Amino acid sequence: MDKITKVDIITRKTNFEELKTALAEIGVMGMTVTQVVGCGTQQGDIKYYRGVPMEVKLLPKIKIEIVVYEVPVEKVVETAIKVLRTGEIGDGKIFVYDVQQVIKVRTGATGREALINE
Ligand SMILES: Nc1ncnc2c1ncn2[C@@H]1O[C@H](COP(=O)(O)OP(=O)(O)OP(=O)(O)O)[C@@H](O)[C@H]1O
Ligand SMILES: [Mg+2]
Repeated sequence: MDKITKVDIITRKTNFEELKTALAEIGVMGMTVTQVVGCGTQQGDIKYYRGVPMEVKLLPKIKIEIVVYEVPVEKVVETAIKVLRTGEIGDGKIFVYDVQQVIKVRTGATGREALINE
């Protein structure tokens, strides 16, 4: 049975171009990118409107979803950390999941065959 893994990276928008380049360099073939809003352990920011503190719980972020077979998941995680870590709060979070199955619609290929280029 193929071991297929999904890595979700949720981070600031600022380093996205650099991250995309770094992921391409390690052989990541496909990804899904979504603009999202979210918050982490600080539960958002406090903004001031006319001097009045207003809690803004959800900040705009970018979510990159990557499903890998050949590229080791550790490499994806290391690459993302290398590009994204500034040491400041809000550098982002990485979630790793097991994937049950992948099917390539055009060919019906499944698992590993669905993720590599024929
Ligand atoms: N527990 C969680 N569940 C779902 N999404 C989360 C969770 N924690 C963070 N996220 C998502 O990740 C984004 C980035 O989180 P963030 O970098 O602020 O994490 P953090 O744990 O607060 O770390 P830091 O202390 O560096 O800010 C959030 O905006 C949110 O979209
Ligand atoms: Mg945070």
